Amino acid sequence: MGGIDVKPSESTKPLYRDSSQCVEARVEDLLGRMTLEEKIGQMCQYTKYPKRYEELVRAGKVGSLFNVTGAEQTNEVQKIAVDQSRLGIPLIFGLDVIHGYSTIYPIPLAIASSWDPETAKSAASIAAAEASSEGIHWTFAPMVDIARDPRWGRVAEGAGEDPHLGSAMARASVEGYQGENLADPHTIVACPKHYVAYGGAEGGRDYNTVEVSERTLRDVYLPPFKAAVEAGAGTLMSAFNDLNGVPASANRFTLTTILREEWGFEGFVVSDWNSIGELVIHGIAGTRAQAGMEAVEAGVDMDMEGNVYQTTLARLVEEGKVSESTIDDAVRRILAIKFRLGLFKRPYVDPSLAAEVIQCREHIEAARDFARRSMVLLKNENDLLPLKKDLKIVAVIGPLADEQDALLGCWPCIGKPEDVVTVLEGIKNMVSEETEILHAKGCDIQDDSTEGLKDATDKAKAADVTIVVVGESREMSGEAGCRSTLDLPGVQERLVRDVCETGVPVVMVLLNGRPMSISWPTEHVSAILEAWHPGIQGGNAVADLLFGDFNPGGRLPVTFPHTVGQVPIYYNHKNTGRPPTPLLYTSRYIDLPSTPLFPFGHGLSYTQFDYSNLMISPERIAPDGEVEISLDVKNVGDRDGDEVVQLYLRDLVGSVTRPVKELKGFKRITLKPEEKATVKFVVGPEQLAFVNRSIKRVVEPGTFNVMVGGSSEDIKLTGGFEVT
Ligand code: NOJ
Repeated sequence: MGGIDVKPSESTKPLYRDSSQCVEARVEDLLGRMTLEEKIGQMCQYTKYPKRYEELVRAGKVGSLFNVTGAEQTNEVQKIAVDQSRLGIPLIFGLDVIHGYSTIYPIPLAIASSWDPETAKSAASIAAAEASSEGIHWTFAPMVDIARDPRWGRVAEGAGEDPHLGSAMARASVEGYQGENLADPHTIVACPKHYVAYGGAEGGRDYNTVEVSERTLRDVYLPPFKAAVEAGAGTLMSAFNDLNGVPASANRFTLTTILREEWGFEGFVVSDWNSIGELVIHGIAGTRAQAGMEAVEAGVDMDMEGNVYQTTLARLVEEGKVSESTIDDAVRRILAIKFRLGLFKRPYVDPSLAAEVIQCREHIEAARDFARRSMVLLKNENDLLPLKKDLKIVAVIGPLADEQDALLGCWPCIGKPEDVVTVLEGIKNMVSEETEILHAKGCDIQDDSTEGLKDATDKAKAADVTIVVVGESREMSGEAGCRSTLDLPGVQERLVRDVCETGVPVVMVLLNGRPMSISWPTEHVSAILEAWHPGIQGGNAVADLLFGDFNPGGRLPVTFPHTVGQVPIYYNHKNTGRPPTPLLYTSRYIDLPSTPLFPFGHGLSYTQFDYSNLMISPERIAPDGEVEISLDVKNVGDRDGDEVVQLYLRDLVGSVTRPVKELKGFKRITLKPEEKATVKFVVGPEQLAFVNRSIKRVVEPGTFNVMVGGSSEDIKLTGGFEVT
């Protein structure tokens, strides 16, 4: 126990039970009392149903259970671990608390659209408060995978395509879940996932192969994980995917060299669901025993639901193939988190707590606010929006208009469809008593029947304005929710076309989990609100925006392509030797524009902003120096509004090719009419460095272009500085 400060403890109580001792001393004391079987037990995690695992828990062969919900259930199975296992080591209960526990708020892609880390943080902290009130200690979140391919269903679960925005959201979520101190009963431990590059899956097919250079890995895919680790994330999940030939859950380079040796991560790594067992299917291990060996040696500490560690590790140790010190290190990391969470002191949860916390008024109000902040106004021709609340007749059309389930989005945790306020309901709550609402579904989300179209167009014809609510069901995004097209499913586009033909002004509201190819509607409807899968208060939030009680301020965290054929399309691409022009021999398609439908960072407001006075100082810096970039933004419209000021840099010449622009700073600000604010950014080595030819992160001398504006394409001010 060299170097650990051990205070004398009460003689009757084993040292590890003495909470006045430091975590390291308690871990060493407990580890010293454990058999090899008990150690391996801590490295095993199983999903419910708890009864199935009662015997294993009693025998000290389970470290964690997940998907066990409700205070009664968690307490019941915890009691077996605490009272009936030899050493009484409490279980750590995990769950996918992704965007809320019971109060479901917008999906993570939507939260990222708020471009407001405080929103992400407070959403995570509410989720933690609700989940912990029922005995959950650990969430498998945030998902911080960069996603450049919207066919991939899991784009819904992350913060989109950009490493800078993704890192800010990752940091904020970890801080929200974990609070100041893990021992605080309202916090839960975070688990950034899926380490790493899972979002780069070929063809956007889930679980698929990833081939990515080490440079792109380090410049694009790793930064949000690093940010999450720096924010103190207690655990991390290793991914399913093959990464350059070595599956992520057997990848010692990413799991140990980078994660522990470079970044100093001290928490524990859990595999994804049977991703250790799947090493056999990947063909990197001939047997389950070899899979176990590969994973544990790479640095995976806990086996989620694979039952590989349980059945193979003891033998591997006996045969000398895995050293007991490798097992000890893994167990140390797991026990340390259990001590830090205060589980030995407080293994149970007070069953009366949940009633006070879950879906309390404050949480419901927050869900409405998060949803409003995360919606993006994509188009607003002739200022059709906001609508007047006293219109005579409003038609609310579409398969998602009165839909509850879809609004929960992927990973709804314990959220229930019946708690969801639909868009139709939200609009009814909003308009004047005299306003007549006509509703027709028109068609289903996915099937091809056109029977309801006539009813829908009849209602649209009779109205002053038609709000058509279209998009995707809950299952169409998230894990395994991959699509080969980004079109509106079923006959929904036909519905939009028919409604447009009536000549009545049309507002399209999108409820979906990914960027969609909506070229035709974009040209023909008057206004589009991207509302994502917005959670249980989604309908009220949509109405708040459509009728002007809230001025839209969200921005796209992902690029919207014209069609799926443009994918992958992302703003921070390389220039190539032949950037696209109308000329033939340039990098483009002959049958598609080179620009996206909506660029990264795009989003409109009901007011307008003026940018001026860009100051860059100093204009020359050393590679380790800093530049301050400031500018003024003024609200020149006639209502309060939010602008997301975005700073992009371009490193003109490098030892390796550099992206055409990269987001390096952003700030969401609220301004009253005529109000002006000065926005400041500081950029230094952290923002300027990239991975050079020898795979070192360096700042190279040269010229940097500065671009500031309201989206990656809407650049209002430009300048530059030199690194000398
Ligand atoms: C598999 C998913 O990939 C992962 O994101 C999730 O946390 C686990 N299952 C547990 O449900």
